[in-house]
Formats: sequence, structure tokens, C-alpha cells
Amino acid sequence: MEKQVRRIGVLTSGGDAPGMNAAVRAVVRTTIRQGIECIGIRRGWHGLISGDFVTLDSDSVSHIMDKGGTILYTARSEEFRTAAGRDKALATCKLLGLDGIVAIGGDGTFRGALALSRQAADEGMDLQVAGIPATIDNDIGCSKYTIGFDTACNTAIECIDKLRDTMQSHERCSLVEVMGRHAGYLALYVGISVGATAVLIPERAVDFERDIVDKIRRARLAGSTHYMIVVAEGAGSAMDYANRIREEVGLDPRVTVLGHIQRGGSPSARDRETASRMGYTAVMAMLQNRGNCIIATQNGAIVDLDMEEALQMTKEFPMDRYQILEALSVTQD
Ligand code: F6P
Repeated sequence: MEKQVRRIGVLTSGGDAPGMNAAVRAVVRTTIRQGIECIGIRRGWHGLISGDFVTLDSDSVSHIMDKGGTILYTARSEEFRTAAGRDKALATCKLLGLDGIVAIGGDGTFRGALALSRQAADEGMDLQVAGIPATIDNDIGCSKYTIGFDTACNTAIECIDKLRDTMQSHERCSLVEVMGRHAGYLALYVGISVGATAVLIPERAVDFERDIVDKIRRARLAGSTHYMIVVAEGAGSAMDYANRIREEVGLDPRVTVLGHIQRGGSPSARDRETASRMGYTAVMAMLQNRGNCIIATQNGAIVDLDMEEALQMTKEFPMDRYQILEALSVTQD
């Protein structure tokens, strides 16, 4: 028999991403429309442990769609990784009468959600958990796209466009380090979009001669007097590469680490729209007893996938884009 869902919690966890607020809004508005209640859990899993919550109504999510960050705050909780911590979280769920939780975040957030739902089942509780992928890293295996990636790309592009003005004037080599944790999506998409001389990503082992020296040499032969190298944080330190360029190539490069600026700002149309559809789909899946799922984009559609299976999925890194990047560079043999 289907269990009736009466009240759900929503939280944001891990690194924030532009569009998280749009997802929260969609979850809240969908629950209200479906006649169920929504409680906001603040500071991610940590808030579920400590009982840090806020009742959300339609008005409390008005005019948040355009805001970066997350109105629910976010955190990374070590305690939630332990069974004892999750027991405290389950006690809060019981106290608040939660039938389900929508967790907005990345891989770590979803692994925590799965552990919580398993522990709940072991204790005879029926708690559904739905995950919504939101991270600027775009590194969730089951989903082609994660909320926040597009905005982060646009932010990095805007910064690099500005950098280019000065590096062009000074005829310099610039290294820009972008985020992405262990993934190179951000670096590759940004690199293509700014016409970088070279892009260093963790998915392709860096060969200093081939990927840096040779690319600068070819660009120089083709007439370039400035060189833009985009470095994914997972591919090594931009500063280390710059030092090597100084010593071995004889240029005097400048390094910019874009850092957390990439996580901020008003979300793009793509992030707002995707977040809205994902938030709606998460609540509807729960109501149709398909909780314990991760909402994902697959072939352009928004789908709900069984959480356990989804967490096993991997996606292929779009290496073809790397070839396109190389094909479009100004170079000469
Ligand atoms: O996962 C998002 C992300 O911004 C990564 O790109 C980065 O490696 C990490 O979070 C930074 O985390 P923190 O906010 O803890 O510095």
C-alpha cells in the first residue's frame, strides 16, 4: 500500500551552487500545490542532526530564484558520516514528522541520503530521500547536467575576458585556475569558450612539453603574443605550472586563481529552469512513491532514477570537446 506523504524536509548540503534557491523554491511551491507541508532544514545534514529548521510557505520562497547561494545555508557534516550522527538526524525526522527529505547537493550529499534512508529502514521507519544534483563541478555520474555549472562557467568566462584585455596589452602568458574538484568539466567548457591556448584537466595526464610548451610555441609561430592557459584545480597548481614556464620557457606568466567567486552570482536561465524542473520532479516522485531517487538529466529529459543504482552510474567525460578545443586554437606546425 502506498504511504501517504504529509510533510517533507528540504535541505542544501556541500558546496553551494547558483540555482540551489530556485530548486528550494520549486520544492516548496510543489509541496504546497500538492497539499503537503515543507520544512526547511538549515545547514545541510548538520541541521538535521541539531534540529535546525524553519517552516516554509509560499511567501518564504518569493524572490529567491535570482539569488546565488542558498537561503537554507549549507555545511559539510562529519558527524553525519557516522551511524550515531544519523541516529540523531532520524530522531529529528521523527520529531518533525517528516515522511521524506529532498537533499540538494552533490555526490557526498546523496551518499549521506542513502545511508540515512537505509538506517531508517533498519529502524522500521519509512523515510524517502530524493536527491537533486547541484554542484558547479558537474561531476555527478548519473546526470548529464548539475545545477550551477552553467552560471559558474559564465562567471569564469567573464573574469577571463577581462584578464585577456590586460594580458593582450602586456603580451603576457596567463594561467587561470578554475574549480571542479577532481573533474575538468568547468575548465574544458570555459577553455573552449574563451579560446584558451591550452587547457589542463585531470582526465588527461598533463605532459608539460606536449600540453604547454608546444602549444605556446605553435601559438607564437601563428602570431600570438599572449597565451591563456586554463588549469582545472584537479590537474595541479597553476602556480607550479607558471613557475615551470618561467624557468623552462623563459616567459614571465601571471597566475589568477578564480576560487570561490565561481560559486556565487545570480543563476543563469539554464540553472533556474533546470532547478525548477528538478525540484518539481523530486516532489512528484516522492508523492508517487518513487522516493529514494536522484533526479537527473538524461538525453535532455528530467528523470528520477533509483538512488542506489544512480550512485553506481558513471558518465563519460566529453573528450571530443578537447579535440575541438585543439582544432580551434590559433597554431602553426
Ligand atoms: O564542489 C564544489 C567546489 O567548489 C569544488 O569545485 C571545490 O574543489 C570545492 O567545492 C571547494 O570547497 P570549499 O568550499 O570547502 O572550499
